[in-house]
Amino acid sequence: MLLSSYRSYMEDTILITGGAGFIGSNFILQWLERSSSAVVNLDKLTYAGNLHNLTPAEKRPGYEFVHGDITDQERLRSLLSRRKPRAIVHFAAESHVDRSIRGPEEFVRTNINGTFSLLEEARGYWGGMSSGEAADFRFLHVSTDEVYGSLGPDDPPFAETTAYAPNSPYAASKAASDHLVRAYHHTYGLPTLTTNCSNNYGRFQFPEKLIPLMILNALGGKPLPVYGDGQNVRDWLYVEDHCDAIATVLEKGRVGQTYNIGGWNEKRNLDIVQSICDMVDEMAGSRGAPRRDLISFVKDRPGHDRRYAMDATKIEHELGWRPKETFETGIRKTVQWYLNNEEWVRNVTSGSYRQWIETHYSS
Ligand code: NAD
Ligand code: DAU
Repeated sequence: MLLSSYRSYMEDTILITGGAGFIGSNFILQWLERSSSAVVNLDKLTYAGNLHNLTPAEKRPGYEFVHGDITDQERLRSLLSRRKPRAIVHFAAESHVDRSIRGPEEFVRTNINGTFSLLEEARGYWGGMSSGEAADFRFLHVSTDEVYGSLGPDDPPFAETTAYAPNSPYAASKAASDHLVRAYHHTYGLPTLTTNCSNNYGRFQFPEKLIPLMILNALGGKPLPVYGDGQNVRDWLYVEDHCDAIATVLEKGRVGQTYNIGGWNEKRNLDIVQSICDMVDEMAGSRGAPRRDLISFVKDRPGHDRRYAMDATKIEHELGWRPKETFETGIRKTVQWYLNNEEWVRNVTSGSYRQWIETHYSS
């Protein structure tokens, strides 16, 4: 491509879905720090959406928050025609595995039907573009490593060519959405990109997930509920590295491709919880007994995947992306963030959050 004709996505309007959630809000803030582009954030504001995360974005000209549901096709159509984005980055989803086990319906509605609605409207919008604009348009679908199923202790990590074998209703709904995205590229030529990422951690993560739950319970001197024997393995990635990887794929990824994103950072759950206990003891001061004493082994998650690991060679070789943060530096920043942001924590741990914790952990 001639340099003079090169236009970066960082200069154009992009539409983000689910931008009030954990990864979406980190993505918007990082994107706005690096670019002059206009950002439209479409979010339904479920329990997981939090506009407080986006206060710095509200001051930026060109930033717009739209309260809406991705299953609402008419709303999508008018938004696309009004704001004319050059790219859609699709984060919106129900994202918690335990909730998908207790109530899968919302996962089918948002993750499958919602992605379908978005693809349909993106296809119509893209079909009405000039050929130059259509060639530049991108639909980037943010997905997960859970679509690949579970690994044995000696299996090689998941590659982009690993067969899909989703095990939870959440993973199955994400796998279905990935297949729809693939089909829209293959059948209609929609310029799609798919990213499959491992477990994220960092600021703004809702404390139903392992790392923030353990930090907050450790701080509050509450039991630390480790499922099963605590030997399940996840590959952890600092959220800002994930956001950087998504921006890299949007800018340089080959249309129709999928890219695995991971931290090269496999850890057993028990090791994670123990290091959080030690870090909280060190950073928040001792409460007499070491916080490791709070660890309590509880009933396992049904169908609990034993091990995830990502082979992120393709994104490194093709696009030059590698994570910058190590687990040790990332987890320290994360613990410090939760220590410094008591008000954020108070806001999200009221009402429906308490109800979830009581229902889920009492049984
Ligand atoms: P999250 O649960 O924190 O946020 C989801 C956001 O989507 C919320 O703001 C919510 O209000 C919004 N939303 C939900 N349903 C909606 C609907 N019908 N219409 C519009 N908005 C809706 O999720 P997250 O952890 O930030 O994950 C974002 C994406 O990344 C998801 O697609 C998830 O599958 C994927 N992912 C997450 C991880 C992880 O470790 N958290 C790892 C890999 C991939
Ligand atoms: O792998 C990527 C996925 O990571 C994302 O697609 C999901 O959206 C995200 O929620 C996450 O899924 P997990 O199920 O791996 O994350 P979670 O934080 O719920 O659990 C991490 C591990 O910790 C898992 O093995 C279950 C265990 N766990 C979790 C909780 C909440 C516990 O032992 N105790 C707990 O209380």
